[in-house]
Amino acid sequence: MWVRMTQEDPGHSAAYVQRFRSLADQGFDLAGEARLVDAMLGRGSRVLDAGCGPGRLGGFLHAAGHDVVGVDVDPVLIAAAEEDHPGPRWLVRDLSELDLPAAGIDEPFDAIVCAGNVMTFLAPSTRVTVLRRLHAHAAAGGRATIGFGAGRGYGFDEFLDDARAAGWVPELLLATWDLRPFTPESDFLVAVLRPA
Ligand SMILES: C[S@@+](CC[C@H](N)C(=O)[O-])C[C@H]1O[C@@H](n2cnc3c(N)ncnc32)[C@H](O)[C@@H]1O
Repeated sequence: MWVRMTQEDPGHSAAYVQRFRSLADQGFDLAGEARLVDAMLGRGSRVLDAGCGPGRLGGFLHAAGHDVVGVDVDPVLIAAAEEDHPGPRWLVRDLSELDLPAAGIDEPFDAIVCAGNVMTFLAPSTRVTVLRRLHAHAAAGGRATIGFGAGRGYGFDEFLDDARAAGWVPELLLATWDLRPFTPESDFLVAVLRPA
């Protein structure tokens, strides 16, 4: 769906990059999701930023001392990540076909972060496949933290069913990245998942 948006509006990705650069220049806090993930990790952990966009989260986690790989289907965003946040390995990849060992990245990940509504930008037919590909890249004892909002065409119950079908067990459900508990009224889900 993101790819379709970039095809319909060729300036979409550049505008997205510019929006986040401008927010960073104005001093907005753009690392909240990354701080939650950092709190879950030992120092020097392996992190996969899945659907990393221009790299605000992977960049923070690299600066915090983790070994970060960021992947995104949009080459314009990956070019911005390379420019703005040098250090992590930034790769153009479709999450539905993710195979990092084929790129020589063999070690599994202690944390996978999938923030910024990435799940709702996938083609619906690929959701379970993406969750399976993420599962295939998780270390034993690793976790995935996936956040997205309500009203974006992917119900929370459906997502949790898909996650279970892909081999994940929900370990903790939050309503925000600053640790408010999830309730049936929540309009956002941050799901911490572990491999079954
Ligand atoms: C709203 S952006 C969020 C970017 C980043 N996670 C953040 O929070 O700043 C959604 C991202 O999902 C990526 N995306 C959508 N479908 C994808 C796919 N199949 N494989 C990889 N990335 C994808 C888009 O390219 C875009 O960068």
